[in-house]
Amino acid sequence: MSQKQILVTGGTGYIGSHTVVELQNQGYDVVIVDDLSNSDREVVDRIEKISGIRPHFEELNLIDAEGVNQLFKKYTKLTAVIHFAAFKAVGESVQAPLKYYQNNLVSLINLLNCMKEYDVPNMVFSSSCTVYGQPEELPVTENAPVQPAESPYGNTKQICEEILRDTVKAYPQLKAIALRYFNPVGAHKTALIGELPKGVPQNLVPFITQTAFGLRDQLSVFGNNYDTVDGSAVRDYIHVVDLAKAHIIAAERLLDGINEENYEYFNLGTGTGSSVLEVINAFEKVNGLPVKYKVVDRREGDIEKIWADTTIANEVLGWKAERGLDEMMSSAWAWEKAVREGDC
Ligand code: WQD
Repeated sequence: MSQKQILVTGGTGYIGSHTVVELQNQGYDVVIVDDLSNSDREVVDRIEKISGIRPHFEELNLIDAEGVNQLFKKYTKLTAVIHFAAFKAVGESVQAPLKYYQNNLVSLINLLNCMKEYDVPNMVFSSSCTVYGQPEELPVTENAPVQPAESPYGNTKQICEEILRDTVKAYPQLKAIALRYFNPVGAHKTALIGELPKGVPQNLVPFITQTAFGLRDQLSVFGNNYDTVDGSAVRDYIHVVDLAKAHIIAAERLLDGINEENYEYFNLGTGTGSSVLEVINAFEKVNGLPVKYKVVDRREGDIEKIWADTTIANEVLGWKAERGLDEMMSSAWAWEKAVREGDC
């Protein structure tokens, strides 16, 4: 049987690289397109080291419409697109909104135009629980109202979902699934791929691992006066490998034509909320290492607490997160050590 060819945009990034490995494990022929603005070409070598298969790689910024057109002209066997490529730093998006709107929206529009032009009917889109803002009810279900975004980054995710909804309605030969991630953390068990933010980490777990390694003096805990178990904010942390596996299931739902609507969306979380202090404690316990921290003021734009109702993803997608907080923390630490000790 000829391998089904899948385009993975942002495929040298954190979640993209883990998804490429899972796709290759399932026998798919993968084409990575990435502009390397937030990742390194070396990740292609590491993916090959893990799976034994070298994916095709194209360096391209997807806001280049003619470049995207040439890409679809070159890869004539594409059956689906998994679209990760986007800017995703909440704080940066507030400082540079036009950069975020141009990159995140134009990239998607260029892809959809070519998918229509070259008969590539299926898209899995990387969305975020950010679309919910601070939910009224918890756990949050897919039917919860989409709240006004807290940041331009979050707004681009909301607008992209609307673009998908309108596009598949106008062109019913296209179909899309949006996956609303909660908080992806952890790394592949080989410690060959993982989260490697450039500069000072914005997200909690890379800041914890860099503090534990001695690269940062101490972690700032943004507030401990929330209405939560210990006053620190609560999130639904999900292992990046669990997240990657969900993308294969979503792509196959479209490839096999078992989607019920042309546009579907699913929460990808564990269903369990953990506070910042609980994450720190889990990291210290499982790795036997202290994490120095101090409590400071709340961070602008943060919500208080969110965790997923995973019923629809469990029952309709047939997917469930399997890895717990301890494995998230131990794999994140193994990756940090491998990066800093040059083992990868
Ligand atoms: C988690 C918790 C912070 C850093 C954002 C996006 C989401 C996704 C993940 C892209 C919060 C606290 C953090 C620190 C801290 N982005 N924290 N000290 O903000 O929940 O989600 O990143 O895929 O779409 O919205 O993630 O890891 O930044 O923060 O106390 O140094 O950790 O206040 O409560 P967030 P985060």
